This record gives sequence, structure tokens and C-alpha cells, in this order.
Amino acid sequence: MNVLLLGSGGREHAIALALRKSPFLATLFAAPGNPGIASVAEIVALDLADHAAIAAFCKLIGIGLVVVGPEVPLVAGLVDDLAAEGVSCFGPSRAAARLEGSKAFTKDFCARHGVPTARHAAFSDIAAAKAYARARPVPIVIKADGLAAGKGVVIASTRDEAEAAIAKMLSGGFGVAGERIVIEDFLDGEEASFFALCDGTRGVPFSTAQDHKRAFDGERGPNTGGMGAYSPAGLVDAALEARIMHEIIEPTLAGMAAEGAPFKGVLFAGLMIAADGPKLVEYNVRLGDPEAQVILPRLEEDLLALMLACIEEDLGPRRLRFSDRTALTVVLAAQGYPDAPVAGTEIGGLERAAAMPDVTVTHAGTKLIGGKLVASGGRVLNITALGRDVAEARARAYAAVDAIDWDGGFCRRDIGWRALGRT
Ligand code: AMP
Ligand code: GLY
Repeated sequence: MNVLLLGSGGREHAIALALRKSPFLATLFAAPGNPGIASVAEIVALDLADHAAIAAFCKLIGIGLVVVGPEVPLVAGLVDDLAAEGVSCFGPSRAAARLEGSKAFTKDFCARHGVPTARHAAFSDIAAAKAYARARPVPIVIKADGLAAGKGVVIASTRDEAEAAIAKMLSGGFGVAGERIVIEDFLDGEEASFFALCDGTRGVPFSTAQDHKRAFDGERGPNTGGMGAYSPAGLVDAALEARIMHEIIEPTLAGMAAEGAPFKGVLFAGLMIAADGPKLVEYNVRLGDPEAQVILPRLEEDLLALMLACIEEDLGPRRLRFSDRTALTVVLAAQGYPDAPVAGTEIGGLERAAAMPDVTVTHAGTKLIGGKLVASGGRVLNITALGRDVAEARARAYAAVDAIDWDGGFCRRDIGWRALGRT
């Protein structure tokens, strides 16, 4: 089967590597891709916003499956538009992608279906929002309703900070994403990311991860898309997994189906593990980046076959096999990330790093210019290693990081610190 993979980051490079293991794969195409993806797929020039052009390409070439990495095309209804043209696509419909596209939708949905989450209210009026925030305890969390690339959340530790965030978001500081805001109570606990593969009615656990959102060591600095991650999240044992499935994932799938928007694809639950149990912080409707880079190398199943089973509503009752080794990934970012990453600096030593045992290098923001590999984004490379435990995976990943020559980049040196502290 020919497959078209959409996206251009480290997540998509990791998906490409997993799809390549499938005996069902004929040719793997990718758009827009990157130099790393180009070494395992045939790159095609397609604009992810041009759904008609993607459908036309699929029909011309005979693409049996489209795999979408990022959220924006899903929220924009790519799956619906391709389905209308008879093209199969792995991922949620526009209606189901509201679980990521609108925080207000998700919070109201949780209230309708008894999914545990922080108490909240949604506003588009500044005065009403401020009045509500004043009546709640601090810290308090202010969120832009729509997609804001991970930047639309403010955790205010004082009332003044809360009011400033409300005023900024509702007066256009976050564009359309902030025309409506959600204000919610602060949840205390440890965060974990839980993934489920879903076929519209059934969900099966697709492992867990913990990421590191802050730019610098010691959880300091600005929020980023993620500076590193590891899988599995040791915090989520079998008993907690069962609770998460029963209290969060299953009511969500039943509720979405009952509301006429059955969810197919990867459901990524950002959870707070509080003293009284797991609570939903947010949903994403696709694999995470860099979470995919640590989950997919541990998958001991045919990803292509699993994606087809989701589309055909045929996942069945099953437990997916994952390696019991730990994967840990370190993100190498360009100096200045996240505010103003410097582009164009040259990178060397990747072959040396990638040749080390149990190490995989995925490209996130690179470009080939005149035969030289240069940085072209904020997050530029992911160095992933497998090991017996977090300590071994981490030692292997940082040994490979040290084999790379790149003066223009930086990384965190403490990925996995929480898990190391636990053992
Ligand atoms: P979100 O984009 O909704 O995942 O929020 C980004 C980050 O803000 C989360 O990963 C949490 O670290 C934090 N956060 C969001 N909502 C809450 C909450 N209600 N309580 C505590 N932390 C939160
Ligand atoms: N790493 C978080 C995300 O992919 O949204």
C-alpha cells in the first residue's frame, strides 16, 4: 500500500521510521517533509492547507492511507475532505478534532460526560471574566480557547497577573484563538501524558510519556513545544492505567460517539495525577512531538496495520505490545529558541551520533543548503536512545548528543530527572 505522511517535524520522522517497518508498505510519500524524512520517504510538494490538491495527488498516485502528524489540518477538516473524495486518512474528523481545537468545547464536554477535570468557566467579556477570576482561589489558570501552539496558557499566581492575562487575551493578544478564554482552577499533582489508539468506539492504551516543557534545566525559562521526553511514564502503573481508561478515555469515546462525532485516531490526554486520582488537563488529537519519538520506537506492532484497523472500526479488544525498555529523547534547539531561534547555522556529526548503539536521530527543523545541513527552525534535532531503564537511555542519548558538532544549538541536560529521582 502507498502511504502519504503529512508534516515536517521530528514526530513525522519518527512516524516514517515506524511505518517503514510494515510489510504492507509499498512507497512512502511525505509532504512537506524534511531532510531526515527524505532519507526514508519520497518527498512531494503539497500544501497542507490545500485539501483539494492533497486529494487529487492521492487519487493520481493511488494512496491507500494518509497519515496526518500535526493538529492544524485535523482541526481544519482534512480527514472529512479526503473522505468525501474516497481517500482514507488516519485521524479524527473536524467534529472530533474539537477536543483539541476548542478548550471551551472540551471543558463543557467533560462536564456533560462526567470526565474529571478542573472546574472552569468560559468568557468573551473582560469584566465578566475578571469578576469570575476574583472569586476563585489563586493560582488560577487562564487559557485561550483555540489553537495557540502551546503558548495560550497562563498560570497566574496572583489576582493582578490573572487580570492582566485576561485583558491581554481578550483584547486580541492571541488573535482568533483568544476571542474566547477558559478560566480554570489550578490542579496540583504530577503531569503525565497518556495515549490511546481509537477506532470510534473502542480505545486501547498506546503507552505513556512525560515531557519537559520549559526551555532550560531545572524547569526554568519559557514554555516550549517540548525539550525532551521519555516513555513509559513510570508514574502510570497498571492500576492507574485502568483508572485512566475507565474514568477518562472510555467516557470520552462514548460521549463523542453519542454526540455524533466518534473519535478515530490517537487521543493524547494530558493528565494531572492528583492525590484523589487522574484529572484531564487537555486533549490533543494526534501524537505528541517529542512524545512520538519515544513511544513509537517501543511499539512492537505494525503501525500501518493498526492505523487501518482504526479507520475500519476494527481495533477489537487487544493489548498492544510495547518493549519494556525505556526510550528517552533530547531535543536540540537553535540558540534563541523559543523566542527568536537563529537559523542557518551548520550541523555536523549526525552520522557519528546515529551509529551509536540504540540511538536514533530524527530531524525536526533542518534544511540542506548546498549539500550542508543547517538549522531552519526552533527545535532542530531529536536524539533518542533506548535503554534498560531511564538512566541507561539517558546516558546513551547524551553520549550521542555529545557526538554532534553544532555551535548554534543547545539542549537541556536534565531530561528524565523526575524519573531518576523516583528509582
Ligand atoms: P495545556 O496547553 O492546556 O496543556 O496547558 C499547558 C500546561 O499548563 C500544562 O501542561 C500544565 O503544565 C499547565 N496547566 C494547564 N492547565 C492547568 C491546570 N488547570 N492546573 C495546573 N496546571 C495546568
Ligand atoms: N509535546 C506536546 C505536544 O505535542 O503537544
